[in-house]
Amino acid sequence: MYRRPRRNRKSEAIRNLVQETSVGVEDLIFPLFLVSGEKKKIPVDSMPGIFRFSIDQMLFEIEECLNLGIKSFDVFPAYPEELKDPFAKESYNPETFYLKGLREIKNRFPELCLMSDVAMDPYSSDGHDGIVQNGKILNDETLEILAKMSLAQADAGVDILGPSDMMDGRVGFIREELDQHGFTDISIMSYTAKYASAFYGPFRDALDSAPKFGDKKTYQMNPANSKEALIEADLDVEEGADFLMVKPALSYLDVIKLLNDNYPLPIAAYNVSGEYSMVKASAARGWIDEDRAMMEILTSIKRAGAKIILTYFAKDFAKSQSR
Ligand code: PBG
Repeated sequence: MYRRPRRNRKSEAIRNLVQETSVGVEDLIFPLFLVSGEKKKIPVDSMPGIFRFSIDQMLFEIEECLNLGIKSFDVFPAYPEELKDPFAKESYNPETFYLKGLREIKNRFPELCLMSDVAMDPYSSDGHDGIVQNGKILNDETLEILAKMSLAQADAGVDILGPSDMMDGRVGFIREELDQHGFTDISIMSYTAKYASAFYGPFRDALDSAPKFGDKKTYQMNPANSKEALIEADLDVEEGADFLMVKPALSYLDVIKLLNDNYPLPIAAYNVSGEYSMVKASAARGWIDEDRAMMEILTSIKRAGAKIILTYFAKDFAKSQSR
């Protein structure tokens, strides 16, 4: 036998030499959940190790993460039912705790990269990402609200806006609004190919943001399709996005590769709540090795072509690197 592939696997040193893909803490964005008030650190039952923080506690958490090398954060708000309405008005109220929190984070840690979420669902009494009328999600009317929310978040100091709503035309609409108001250097990480997925369950628990009726299939993509992702990516590039995201990650590794092979923009993948909780739940029963499963998942997402991974494992990963 002249060809023995096992020779390149015979020692750790050789395996390291031939390793094609590696994940570093600099590839990761850590999603965090913000609540109003102070001194709150409330565990999310369906996401072991993940909490909802009030701003004072979130600043401690961020400081700890910065010390572990994590430099990028995506902050989501959890609003109480009484502040929700059909038009997500609270989302651009300058006094609202989310916008004040973003500002505080950026003032305190100007060097970090701060990403925010642009969508109506955390503020919507219907729990949808757009305005609901007679059971339908209105597209163009929703854009106006997304633009107001984006301006308010830009004004609060975020570096990257993350439109996660899947309305048509929102990236261009937001980009134009930003430009008109002088926010020419605010980036947009578009949720380009966001699928109508069962893997968002724990996130909706964390934010109490599940839709009050129906599902999100008229705006999020059908898990059976990949060609639509090319249409969405074309539009996002044209409309001025800086990053293209695929979400979820694991069931969509082919879509990550498709976009990475076809577009010069950096590709991000969102390793979503359900993907995280599956690992945590089975590890808690001793059924899988949590650290190894985490590494394998993150590595596979990078191998598929994502440069950036949004993941609830960010802190666990950073700790495992410093051990
Ligand atoms: C909604 C939004 C969702 C997530 C991020 N932004 C959920 C949804 O579309 O219902 C999910 C993230 C996760 O599951 O970790 N705008």
